[in-house]
Amino acid sequence: MAQDNVFKIGLILPMTGQQATTGRQIEAAARLYMAQNGDTVAGKKVQLIVKDDTSLPDQTRRLAQELIVNDKVNVLAGMGITPSAMAVAPLATQSKTPLVVMAAATSSITEASPYVVRTSFTLPQASVALADWAPKNNIKTVVSLVSDYGPGIDAEKFFNARMVNNGGKVVEALRVPMRNPDFAPFLQKVRDLKPDALFVFVPSGAGAAVMKQFTERGMDKAGIKLIGTGDVTDDDQLNDMGDSVLGVVTSHHYSAAHPSELNKKFVDAFQKANKNLRPNFMAVGGYDGMRVIYEALKTTKGAGGGDALLAAMKGQIFESPRGKIYIDAQTRDVVQDIYLRKVEKKDGQLFNVEFDVIKDVKDPGKSK
Ligand code: DHB
Repeated sequence: MAQDNVFKIGLILPMTGQQATTGRQIEAAARLYMAQNGDTVAGKKVQLIVKDDTSLPDQTRRLAQELIVNDKVNVLAGMGITPSAMAVAPLATQSKTPLVVMAAATSSITEASPYVVRTSFTLPQASVALADWAPKNNIKTVVSLVSDYGPGIDAEKFFNARMVNNGGKVVEALRVPMRNPDFAPFLQKVRDLKPDALFVFVPSGAGAAVMKQFTERGMDKAGIKLIGTGDVTDDDQLNDMGDSVLGVVTSHHYSAAHPSELNKKFVDAFQKANKNLRPNFMAVGGYDGMRVIYEALKTTKGAGGGDALLAAMKGQIFESPRGKIYIDAQTRDVVQDIYLRKVEKKDGQLFNVEFDVIKDVKDPGKSK
């Protein structure tokens, strides 16, 4: 009946708690995509159902179950952190519901269910370019400091191995708790070890605290550089971090300063719709995820259920605000350009300004 003409997207995000900025960014991006592209696709009314999992994986699982059984969603999406995506993956498989992962970035998530499609990135993908850049730029010794869970362990493994492979030295590999981290004792240790650079991965939202403590301890003045994946100079927080972050080099797949026409339009429209909030890499994962869903619905005209939608998601290739991206049909993971960026001031604001690019990077973390 009327239900047949509705296409439901269950978007589960952390809207409150430690990862709330991820939820705010992705929801805003999804709503922007719908405002720009309409809410009727292939004759179906697209309905976005947003649920807050507070980034607790038990909640993510319970909400996904409700969305599948009660709301009969056509697609599940969101997944602010890796444990949430891992908790939902078996439900996606059982119910044959495509699960569009817009944020979580541990390599193995796409292997947890054949129904996972990812539009964010992976930590191995983002880390390797920086480990190629560092030894050529007077960084011979490093300490790594990562959040102690999936994406941090991926970052540690791939960055450190590549450093060693490039003739660099990893002095120590430190892991800090994911929940309520206190960076102070770890930074003190790094200060004593005095490497050329500290490599950092922390999830979106935690970067400002790391930067503040790094500066307060005078680590930069002691000659230790801070480098990391772009999660640490997150566009959501960067402009409030202060001038001490000028010059910090990171590698990532998206910068709000990416100099393409499409990105300028995206950033303008996003800021206009969201009280001048700057979109970050999470927003782009959400925006592109909506596009993957819309295009799959157009292709299938809503017929054939989850399997047909999934098939129509595989192999999609298009220009994103981050640059050209591609959903690898074999792995269902995103293939994209990775940029080296440096924090610079432009028109009085701090930005991650791209200075080099590695084209079409596949996730180096896949076992097959
Ligand atoms: C994950 C979360 C983040 O906020 C991030 O920046 C990268 C990865 C994750 O849990 O997978």
